Amino acid sequence: MTQPVRISPSILSADFARLGEEVRAIDAAGADWIHIDVMDGHFVPNITIGPAVVKAIRPLTDKPFDVHLMIAPADRYLDAFAQAGADTILVHVEAGPHIHRSVQHIKALGKRAGVVLNPATPAKVLDYLLDEVDEVLVMSVNPGFGGQHFIAGQLKKIAAIRRMIDATGRAIDLEVDGGVDPDTARLCIEAGADALVAGTAIFRDGPAGYPANIAALRGG
Ligand code: DX5
Ligand code: ZN
Repeated sequence: MTQPVRISPSILSADFARLGEEVRAIDAAGADWIHIDVMDGHFVPNITIGPAVVKAIRPLTDKPFDVHLMIAPADRYLDAFAQAGADTILVHVEAGPHIHRSVQHIKALGKRAGVVLNPATPAKVLDYLLDEVDEVLVMSVNPGFGGQHFIAGQLKKIAAIRRMIDATGRAIDLEVDGGVDPDTARLCIEAGADALVAGTAIFRDGPAGYPANIAALRGG
């Protein structure tokens, strides 16, 4: 069963010179979670945020931090992101070397464990993982940059994973990340997503626009 959609603004699209104010602004604008994109210049071509930044913004909001690790290998950094204040730690199944071990490690740290699937990765990779995870994140762009075009072919995968989750009978969040705007948000929700990441579609107008932009992703 799906639940009302949660919106997780990606601070990758925030004004980094005013990052603290931006986090407070999206909190006040109705964000459910805060999405933090961590990139290493190796697993993806871009370099972004480390644990020190997560720690610095942690006191500014009570909203859960959804920390998306686009780093390989992720394992040696899991403790640092947990200590910095992550609530959910998301690791790519493609990052290796042992995704099941990474999930076990996150759970042992007392955090919610999420797994992320790149666009070319089939839903089947979840067959022997789903029982261990709290969240699945489907990438609807290739990871590395904000502002990319939504890959519509991922909708079938979202629907397939929704069926897999419902079959478990467990409350596993199904989130989508990349190119989410009010139009693609509706398609994702129809396919069974119950959480959406958005950068460009929320941050594009400056803080005055954040409440309406978040509301638009919920469907009005
Ligand atoms: C892409 C990141 C996304 C991205 C979303 O690698 O994981 O979170 O910043 O940005 P938009 O909404 O602009 O596609
Ligand atoms: Zn992300």
